[in-house]
Amino acid sequence: MPLKYPLYRALEGSETLYRVEGRRHFSEWQPLGEDRWLVHAHFAEIYPSQVLIQALIEGEGAYGVLSSEEWQRRRQRRVSSDGDPSSGTSLPGSKIMEMKERVDLADWTTFGLSAQAAHWMTARSDDAVRFALDWSQENKADLLVMGGGSNMLLHRDWDGLALHVGMLGIRVLKEEGSRVEVVVGAGENWHQWVINALDNGWHGLENLALIPGQVGASPMQNIGAYGVELKDRFLWLEAIHVQTGALKRFDGAACAFGYRESVFKSAEKGNWIIVRVAFALDRNAPLQTSYGAIQQELKDLPEASWTHRDVANAVMRIRSAKLPDPEKLGNAGSFFKNPVLQADAFVKLQNTHPQVAHYPQPDGTIKIAAGWLIEKAGWKGMHRGTHGVHVHQALVLVHYGGATGAEIWQLAQDIMHDVFSKYGVQLEAEVNQIGRA
Ligand code: EPU
Repeated sequence: MPLKYPLYRALEGSETLYRVEGRRHFSEWQPLGEDRWLVHAHFAEIYPSQVLIQALIEGEGAYGVLSSEEWQRRRQRRVSSDGDPSSGTSLPGSKIMEMKERVDLADWTTFGLSAQAAHWMTARSDDAVRFALDWSQENKADLLVMGGGSNMLLHRDWDGLALHVGMLGIRVLKEEGSRVEVVVGAGENWHQWVINALDNGWHGLENLALIPGQVGASPMQNIGAYGVELKDRFLWLEAIHVQTGALKRFDGAACAFGYRESVFKSAEKGNWIIVRVAFALDRNAPLQTSYGAIQQELKDLPEASWTHRDVANAVMRIRSAKLPDPEKLGNAGSFFKNPVLQADAFVKLQNTHPQVAHYPQPDGTIKIAAGWLIEKAGWKGMHRGTHGVHVHQALVLVHYGGATGAEIWQLAQDIMHDVFSKYGVQLEAEVNQIGRA
């Protein structure tokens, strides 16, 4: 009789559980502390996991056979009522991941809105990601892929699986003259990586200092600030296909980068999990100081002495002055994109509002400062008790505490309607809306 997977097993004399997904694929659940599981995903292609999976399938030796109900009962004995985001972040081992239940995502998103994920895993390897994908398919649990949670607004609890992509590591691939190619794990913190690169003399990312989030999320929306975009220093990325588990390498062209856009937000939306990103940096990269705000910050230093670190410091000062620190005040950076208008639409707007802040683009379109429109419409610093519009930057919505995603979205819609009625310009959210009704 063919075996019906999954098979449920327990190691006698211990609390360790096993779930066999198929002939070469099983997970091992080990107790961690009082209330959590440490889950190892195994792909039994080589000794000794091949021997182990055979014993598990047969239910022989110390591996006792459990019914699905008994296995679930034992598994549920150890659940976490409050997720501790600091735990498990330094777990070693390429195949290790951690699984928890009922985790408040407030700690995992920069908006800090309370929303519960029914299941939660951190994956620290490609195989761990594949395991999570299989698990979500088998359990019919909708998948929410989390990076640093810095560009999402959660509208409600998440009934499915929140998968935190946590691959760490920074490795030099190649050095040739002043050029350095470096590959970085998707789970590395973006700003830490920028500072690490700077410390090593690998230049080109300085202007992107202090952007919140993880490295793996940076290509999704081609992050950008002060005249530099991720795509300027991008070499390739590797991503795992959500349906098949296959690993694919994307070069810049395949990513189809645009203004806060990539193929991962459009044609391939939801299809890939980015696991590592490679950058092409340069010890002699030219300084990018075209932005007035940067020049202003550096004006007391003689131009000939400006260094990459000076530029990074200038960017950090500008950002800290204008943008709220998510550690102190919940936010997701620019909530809206700067709208891009065709020349004729722009001329109309400029006729009625000659002061409108705008930036002509190489393709003849004109980018409008949404912050200017929102401020002039009277929304800057607006306060609705639990949430509002940032005092120093009208493009940023902030959470003072106790708001829901739906309330913040309502504010966003009110702003969009008002700006449209006053300027005829349709704003678009830059932040991803999760679970919107
Ligand atoms: N402005 C206002 N009032 C405001 C904000 C802006 O009038 O409250 C006008 C001013 O004229 C100002 C102009 O808008 O000169 C541009 O403002 P700023 O330099 O602050 O840049 P931004 O267009 O508001 C964009 C990015 C930021 C990035 C900065 C710096 C978008 C959606 N936002 O903001 O990115 O840091 O440029 O390059 O493109 C983010 O994506 O989360 C983000 C913070």
